[in-house]
Amino acid sequence: MDVVLSGIRPTGNLHLGNYFGALRNFTKMQHENNCYFFIADYHSLTTHPTPEHLQENVKQVLVEYLAAGLDPEVATIYVQSDLPETAELYLFLNMNAYKGELERVTTFKEKAKTQPNNINAGLLTYPTLMAADILIHRAHKVPVGKDQEQHLEMTRTFANRFNRLYKVDYFPEPVAYNFGEDLIKIPGLDGSGKMGKSEGEGNAIFLADEPAVIRKKVMRAVTDAGPQEMNAPKPDPIRNLFAIMEAVSSPDTVAYFDEKYNACQIRYGDMKKQLAEDIILFTEPLREKIKALSADDNYIRKVMEMGKEKAHQSGGRTVREVREIIGFRP
Ligand code: TRP
Repeated sequence: MDVVLSGIRPTGNLHLGNYFGALRNFTKMQHENNCYFFIADYHSLTTHPTPEHLQENVKQVLVEYLAAGLDPEVATIYVQSDLPETAELYLFLNMNAYKGELERVTTFKEKAKTQPNNINAGLLTYPTLMAADILIHRAHKVPVGKDQEQHLEMTRTFANRFNRLYKVDYFPEPVAYNFGEDLIKIPGLDGSGKMGKSEGEGNAIFLADEPAVIRKKVMRAVTDAGPQEMNAPKPDPIRNLFAIMEAVSSPDTVAYFDEKYNACQIRYGDMKKQLAEDIILFTEPLREKIKALSADDNYIRKVMEMGKEKAHQSGGRTVREVREIIGFRP
C-alpha cells in the first residue's frame, strides 16, 4: 500500500475550492492508501502568527478536515508540532541543502518580495522542512498543486542526496499524486481566476459560511451586461459562475440557465439566487458538522492524541534509523 501524505498550512478557513480540489478526494483516497494528513503549524511560523491565532487556526483546519469526512481511525491526522522528530530530520536535511538552490526557489523569491522585512531562515529553508514532512513517513505520493511542485522536486533531490552520501537506499523518491478527472477546479466570485482566500473579500465561499453570508457573496459576484447575440461564448466571470453551478447544482438547473444564456434571455439575478440556494444546500451538512465538532473540545483533543501517537510510530522509527545511518550511536 502506498504511503500518501498531504500537509496544509493553518492560515484560515477552508473554502469550496479546497473542498473540490482536494478534501473530497482525500476522503476516498484514505481507504486505498496509508494516508497521513497533517497541519503544518511549524511552517506557519514563517509569518509570525500570534499564539492565539496559531491555536485557533490549527483547530479550525482539523475540525473542517473531520467535517469533510477524513476519518482519524482510518488515516493518520496529526498536527506537525506533535511530531517534533520532524524538526530533527529538518536539521539533518539542512546540512545537505545548499544556499544557492534554496535561494532559487520561486516561492522563496515571491515571499521575500511580499515580506521584505522578514526574510527569515525559516522562509529560506521552507523546502527542507517540507522535505522532512514527506520523508519522515517515507511517503511515495504527495498530492500537490502546481505551486508546490518545485518543493516536491527538491524533496526528491534531498532524498537522493542523502541516499548517495550515505550509500543507502533508504528514502523513496516521492512523486505527485494526481487526482486526474476527480480534480474539479472551482473559480472565485471576483471574475478572475481561482477561488482563494488571498484573492480578496468575497471571492471565496467558506465551508463554514452562514447562509446569509453565502447569499450576499454570490449576489455580489462579478457578471456583465449579458450576451449580445445568440449562442455567444461566455466571458470568464460568467463561465466561472457556471463552473460553480456545475459543482453544486443539478444538471437540470445548469442546463436551464445555459439555455437561457444561449437564447439571450438570462437574468443573472435569478441565476445567482438559484446558485446561492444550491451552495447553501450543498454545504449544509458540512456546516452542521463543523459547528458540532467545534463545540466538542474533548473529541478534538482525542483526535489530536490519536494522530500524535500514530505519527510518532512511523516518524519516530524513521528518525531513529536516520540517526544510525548518519553515524550517531544507536
Ligand atoms: N507547502 C504546502 C503549502 O503551502 C504545505 C505543506 C507543508 C505540505 N508541508 C507539506 C504539503 C508536505 C505537502 C507535503 O500548501
